[in-house]
Amino acid sequence: MVVMAAMPTLLDRRLVVVTGKGGVGKSTVAAALALAGARQGKRVLVAEVNAKERVSALLERRAVGSQIGRLEDLIDAVDVEPRAAMREYALMILKFKAIYNAVFENRLVRTFLRAVPSLAHLVMLGKILFHVAEQLPDGRPRYDLVVLDAPASGHGSMFLRLPQVLATSLPPGPLAREARQMHQTLVDPRTTTVALVTLPESMPVNETIELNRELRDVAGIRPAALFLNGYLQARFSASEHERLATAPEPLRPLAQTVLTREARAGRSERWARRLAVDTELSPNIIPFLFTRRFGRAQVEQVSRIVESA
Ligand SMILES: Nc1ncnc2c1ncn2[C@@H]1O[C@H](COP(=O)(O)OP(=O)(O)O)[C@@H](O)[C@H]1O
Ligand SMILES: [Mg+2]
Repeated sequence: MVVMAAMPTLLDRRLVVVTGKGGVGKSTVAAALALAGARQGKRVLVAEVNAKERVSALLERRAVGSQIGRLEDLIDAVDVEPRAAMREYALMILKFKAIYNAVFENRLVRTFLRAVPSLAHLVMLGKILFHVAEQLPDGRPRYDLVVLDAPASGHGSMFLRLPQVLATSLPPGPLAREARQMHQTLVDPRTTTVALVTLPESMPVNETIELNRELRDVAGIRPAALFLNGYLQARFSASEHERLATAPEPLRPLAQTVLTREARAGRSERWARRLAVDTELSPNIIPFLFTRRFGRAQVEQVSRIVESA
């Protein structure tokens, strides 16, 4: 008898990093993964980084801010913000508030931190990885699943490559060691998995192909899943398209609207094929949801799709 091990899904990893360009649906996918994880009984932390807090609103909950707070049963959230993360990190190392205040509340130091945003990013990522490894007093992990809604990939894969870059460029010492350890966590496929999110449009698709290549070839992080969000499914056949194109006058404006939508659906399909070829990942399709208000019900719908990815 052949026993097939079930393929691990995204939710089987301790850390899922959701990444992609701004506005493609990253926070939606992160919130959906959190719901799907909680449905499986996992204790979930969903962390946003240096962005306007979105996940709580998508789940129709009160905002949590820069300290971990409970969104609902099994789901905690945090909006990691550079100064709060830096403070927490420094307090862990410096231990004493007075020293922290003397060092980090210093105007010169604050200016320095603003000038070296990569350091702030490193500390924010460090905070999240701390919670990935965090244990309860009885030795169980505090969270079964941490979903990281990564900063918009305007700067390519830099956020995830940062530990590697700093590990090799900082002088030997605790910070370089910390960075190396962070990189090891990120490249360990048993712990971490990266999900790319994109839209069926040319810019997001091209950037996703590039981001995937950079992560794979430069950072040594192989994305495991690709979500193609806002997908339009064609509704009519080619012969129906022809009939729509010659619709008589009173119906013509309506027929043109339908044809425009169908053309967009055709593009969705072509971009899906292009992504599959150029990323070697099979896109998980998330349909465009027609709704007046995008809220929890829609995120629940998306969570049914992402749970099997
Ligand atoms: N599948 C979808 N169908 C329709 N609208 C969507 C879909 N996914 C996201 N949206 C809309 O796009 C907005 C931006 O999504 P969000 O997840 O906040 O993007 P990002 O985090 O990448 O900036 C959402 O608030 C929602 O209104
Ligand atoms: Mg977002």
